[in-house]
Amino acid sequence: MSTQKGLNLTLKIWRQKNNKTKGQFETYQIAEVSPDSSFLEMMDMLNEQLINDGKDTVAFDHDCREGICGSCAMYINGRPHGPDTGITTCQLHMRHFKNGETITIEPWRSAAFPVIKDLAVDRSSFDRVMAAGGFISVNTSGNTLDANAILVPKEDADHAMDAAACIGCGACVATCKNGSAMLFVGAKVSQYALLPQGRVEAKRRVLNMVKAMDEEGFGNCSNTGACEVECPKGISLEVIARMNREFFVANADRG
Ligand code: FES
Repeated sequence: MSTQKGLNLTLKIWRQKNNKTKGQFETYQIAEVSPDSSFLEMMDMLNEQLINDGKDTVAFDHDCREGICGSCAMYINGRPHGPDTGITTCQLHMRHFKNGETITIEPWRSAAFPVIKDLAVDRSSFDRVMAAGGFISVNTSGNTLDANAILVPKEDADHAMDAAACIGCGACVATCKNGSAMLFVGAKVSQYALLPQGRVEAKRRVLNMVKAMDEEGFGNCSNTGACEVECPKGISLEVIARMNREFFVANADRG
């Protein structure tokens, strides 16, 4: 348990009714926040305060609150998921902030992630990119093949698992000056391309997912590497290089 006393904080939060209206920052004071509480618990405290004051609560996305679902998209003091690295907003603790500090909280800002309300953004563009090819087509009825029947080299399995760690939170897009989704799509392409089960549809997959990515309005990658730095799951830029190779080969084969 922390011995720090409760924190008194000023919160500058982006408020926006919907995608059609202009937003603005509003300032709130919050007192006696436990340093042991999570950032989202602090947001819950604020919303309780707003309800008690008869005011509109701050909309923000969350679900698992344990770094799995990727819902808790927030830009905190100019960084996606806040000042710590390798964690999501729900895993961020208030002990990372000082008593008396002003915390600025904004939604993901990207043309492909329109604001729904306040800090909640519409990331269904990611779903549509996934629907374009982020799957393998297998018949699961009848006899299921033993999981160990297809041998996979350990190194490939490890790289595939590393890529599959992507939770689709969108921090890579939010931090990229081009609004590029290459780290996300590269991770999804890689997790299948590295495994024999995914090779069957690999060419079609990469072509369709890249096409969907472009259609959704994500920008191009200019290799700044910000996405890798801010990814809460440590997805490496290697996945972008692999996707580019996969795309090049698939495109060449198409003739
Ligand atoms: S709420 Fe699920 S990752 Fe944060």
